[in-house]
Amino acid sequence: MLSNVRIERTESPKTKPNPEKLGFGQYFTDHMLLMDYSAEQGWHDPRIVPYAPLTLDPAAMVFHYGQAVFEGLKAYRTAEGGAQLFLPERNAKRLNRSLERMSMPKLEPGVLTEAIQALVGVDQDWIPEAEGTSLYIRPFIIATEAMLGVRASSSYLLAIVMSPVGAYFDGGLKPVDILVEPHDVRAVRGGTGAAKTAANYAGGLKAQAAAKEAGCAQVLWLDALERKYVEEVGSMNVFFRIDGQVYTPVLNGSILEGVTRGAVIELLEDWDVMFTARPLSIQELVQAAANGTLEEAFGTGTAAVISPIGGIRWNGQLYPINGGQVGELSQKLYDTITGIQRGMVRDVYGWTVP
Ligand code: COI
Repeated sequence: MLSNVRIERTESPKTKPNPEKLGFGQYFTDHMLLMDYSAEQGWHDPRIVPYAPLTLDPAAMVFHYGQAVFEGLKAYRTAEGGAQLFLPERNAKRLNRSLERMSMPKLEPGVLTEAIQALVGVDQDWIPEAEGTSLYIRPFIIATEAMLGVRASSSYLLAIVMSPVGAYFDGGLKPVDILVEPHDVRAVRGGTGAAKTAANYAGGLKAQAAAKEAGCAQVLWLDALERKYVEEVGSMNVFFRIDGQVYTPVLNGSILEGVTRGAVIELLEDWDVMFTARPLSIQELVQAAANGTLEEAFGTGTAAVISPIGGIRWNGQLYPINGGQVGELSQKLYDTITGIQRGMVRDVYGWTVP
């Protein structure tokens, strides 16, 4: 439970951005939520305050040893004018797994969702209404103790900021080509790949730039041990439909357990689509693409929901998938999940929370 949240409202509300030009993560709402952790007091003093820069000591441990974890989820405006969150407790559970991996103090059950509900309540007029838009919510926790010895910090800051965002793709789903990264890896087993921690993203930027250079939108990551099995695409989980069967890499300790990944698996099971989580080699996938049995491939994540893959570039060759078109299953998953998120499709799974 979250104890009384102090609220200090802004005296100078910002002008809201043009809803047709939101992009992703460029604008921020009027308020943010902060909460402190100290060894003596635990998590304490939750407060909603005007959005403003943070002041941190230059020796704050987050700047040096990288204790930083985050989450991403969205609030949606419903057809009736209400607002709802999508599976926030799964983000809360994952945040605690990330905190544990990074030697940071966990939150009590319910605290993250209640904090988000309180903040969205204060800034609810920032939830955009147009189809494909939403309010992206970014909770993060950083180490704040001023100390240069290598050990876990004794103090932390939880902050939640929110950004009205547009449709990830203009004009609906758009398949993108992806580049198989031959050298760099995103994560290793036993490392931090299953945690949503800042360094995982920094380590991927170089390969992402190489992918752009090669005309691809994203990197297809291979495993660190053998450079043989696919793990994730960009910062998303990845699915393939081969000969009517759907596959995703099995969670092996270096893959992040996506909330959208979980929802997709539940839908596939509910729809009686044959589904297996298992290791998938790049060799198997390009062979299936070459002989026409790789019917669809797509990434899943909170930001894009479903991101269809139009082709895989590997060893200098492009292997097109489904003629670069959006697959039937990708479209159905996208329509169902975004429909539930916006309250247009009945939520028979109990995924949404007011
Ligand atoms: C997502 O797909 O939701 C992500 O993790 C991307 C986010 C880091 C912007």
